[in-house]
Amino acid sequence: MESDLSLEFLRVVEQAAIACAHTMGQGDRNGSDRVAVEAMRRVMDTVPIDGTIVIGEGERDEAPMLYIGEKVGSAHSLRGGASPVGFPQVDIAVDPLEGTNLCATGAPNAIAVLAASNRGGLLHAPDLYMEKLVVGPSSKDHVSLDAPVHENLKAIASCLGRRVEDLVIVVLERPRHEGLIDQIRSSGARIRLIGDGDLSAGIAAAVVGSGIHAVMGTGGAPEGVLTAAAMRCLNGEIFARLVVNKPEHEDRCRAMGIVDFKKVYRSKDLAPGSRVIFAATGVTDGSLMKGVRFFGDGVRTSSVIMQNEPNRIRFIDSIHVSPNSDVKIRF
Ligand code: FBP
Repeated sequence: MESDLSLEFLRVVEQAAIACAHTMGQGDRNGSDRVAVEAMRRVMDTVPIDGTIVIGEGERDEAPMLYIGEKVGSAHSLRGGASPVGFPQVDIAVDPLEGTNLCATGAPNAIAVLAASNRGGLLHAPDLYMEKLVVGPSSKDHVSLDAPVHENLKAIASCLGRRVEDLVIVVLERPRHEGLIDQIRSSGARIRLIGDGDLSAGIAAAVVGSGIHAVMGTGGAPEGVLTAAAMRCLNGEIFARLVVNKPEHEDRCRAMGIVDFKKVYRSKDLAPGSRVIFAATGVTDGSLMKGVRFFGDGVRTSSVIMQNEPNRIRFIDSIHVSPNSDVKIRF
């Protein structure tokens, strides 16, 4: 997979973000998601790849577009199903709108996201829950998913050269996290409860200066794989374990080739590819990127594009100018 594909993937997430940003605050999470999916699918077919969706909107029978196994990229759109010779084979994980409620209510941190890798480079994870612990580079070798919460917090604080009381831990605000929240509170660390969006929180946890030091708790497994792709580029780490507590969950895991239901995954297990690209554009304002701004005759987007080979993180501020309009830039 060529690293200059990253700018192609940038176009994909930018257009998905712009499409759903038009619906911000309309209270229609499904409508916001639908327009993001449609835009992402449309632009994806202009990218010169022989792509396969490995994490998408669901199984073929439940998602009309970007379903798992769907072939995408210009190798397919140009050749009408003929053998796509000469195009790089790329596996793709998408979340066209991560944080559908956030967009529907105009809350911060909704993003349009994709990760891409050479074939086989992203785990085919079932859409189950996943226990997660996401930390930055300095603490990744000092924490464990099975360690008591207070021990992990002590380790993170010591690696960051601060007191436990100075940490900020992001947790999804859900009834299932009551016990976790109690444990974090009793250790003295601070908590930021979020309504949705543990993926963008995970990225922030791996970036010094974001004010977020770890993400803890249970969220979606697809978001876990996308987080892992970002961690491969940022040198951070996700520790994760699928929540498999029903026979039906076991069947879904087996269908995707997963037989060890208790395995603790790290970034390299969830996103093992030798080449990984991660692209995200802000839909609403967030800790790392601004949301989409419409200014009459143009649109401005903030994105991050990361890759592991060579290891590079680019923050990209794009102005999409309407035909024949003046370009106005305010820094
Ligand atoms: P959507 O983008 O599908 O709305 O998911 C947002 C999200 O908050 C994720 O960030 C998180 O991993 C997951 O949902 C948590 O799931 P649940 O809302 O069922 O607790």
